[in-house]
Amino acid sequence: NEIYFNGLSGVLPELPMSFAGLERRAEAALPPGVWSYVAGGAGDEYTQRANVSAFERWGLVPRMMAGTARRDLSVELFGLSLPSPVFMAPVGVLGLCAQDGHGDLAAARAAARTGVPMVASTLSVDPMEEVAKEFGTTPGLFQLYTPADRELAASLVHRAEAAGFRGIVVTLDTWVTGWRPRDLATANFPQLRGHCLANYTSDPVFRSRLAQTPEENPGAAVLHWAGVFPNPLGWDDLPWLRSLTGLPLILKGLHHPEDVRRAKDGGVDGVYCSNHGGRQANGGLPALEALPGVVEAADGLPVLFDSGVRSGADVVKALALGATAVGIGRPYVYGLAAGGADGIVHVLRSLLAEADLIMAVDGYPALADLTPAALRRREA
Ligand code: FNR
Repeated sequence: NEIYFNGLSGVLPELPMSFAGLERRAEAALPPGVWSYVAGGAGDEYTQRANVSAFERWGLVPRMMAGTARRDLSVELFGLSLPSPVFMAPVGVLGLCAQDGHGDLAAARAAARTGVPMVASTLSVDPMEEVAKEFGTTPGLFQLYTPADRELAASLVHRAEAAGFRGIVVTLDTWVTGWRPRDLATANFPQLRGHCLANYTSDPVFRSRLAQTPEENPGAAVLHWAGVFPNPLGWDDLPWLRSLTGLPLILKGLHHPEDVRRAKDGGVDGVYCSNHGGRQANGGLPALEALPGVVEAADGLPVLFDSGVRSGADVVKALALGATAVGIGRPYVYGLAAGGADGIVHVLRSLLAEADLIMAVDGYPALADLTPAALRRREA
């Protein structure tokens, strides 16, 4: 209401209201190498663009005489009561997008202020314990990049449990970095990696391994980390992953219904349909196209979704296609770059306000009303 009535009564917003405007502001605020990293994707970025345009293929069919004065966007997820079905997707290297270098803390503070949960990346500038302290009453999840060193993996998960995280999201599509021409052109990976290893350098297992290397310095940590990072998991590893934690376990990066069924059979608590915002493999399907198949195969298991969500309208469409909760990636990172924690709050509140108004105008006042029957697909 506040955003809406400010606009109607002539109060100018401090940050752009459109995604395009926000994007321009973020680009101006960030050093070119960081901008390329955040905004870029794999190959010629076809999949990244298709993630966004896929939403234009779907339209909500308005229903009249069905609106209510208040909408209910709250959702139950993994036993948590959330005020809305939106969350901040895990983003590494957030620190480089914040003026004070503490982007993870800024995102966690935005989570506390909005009730929108953050999935905190393994690759953070601030150690997970510090991040979790900022969540207030908003629950947070921890995203795990699973190192080959199982003791280190277990240590990261157990620290997340001790810090109060409420679920573990294991990202499966990034055991090697994708082919990203913009990053290769700016050769910025070493610089980026030097800024996102706090969860490793603060880890007792990682530190004990490092102590066995000849020299303990930041360069050695990067090299050691680079040695443990590329770790292809197989379905045989799922029982081990499951045994690591009693917290809800969610696998991120699933598209194929068969993979979803295997995950479900392996005892996960949720599946997460995402193509990493088109950053990992070019030429693939837009994530939204895969969502209905994932939902069907999940057969009642919660389905998280991200990749290409840029507006409240996109959130509504993903929910109607069966997502239980919808993740935002670049938009909140751009909010951070443009305006710190306030910028993230601006992005999240605007997105939720738009979703809420669409549900009002189009006569779908409750999340339960948002089903595939609410949508029509347009021919290209
Ligand atoms: C990511 N993403 C990501 N995912 C993950 O599981 N762990 C991570 O550390 C990162 N890091 C990361 C960095 C940056 C700069 C971006 C933009 C994204 C992927 C992220 O969780 C999510 O899948 C996408 O961002 C969603 O797509 P959109 O919303 O950016 O289109």
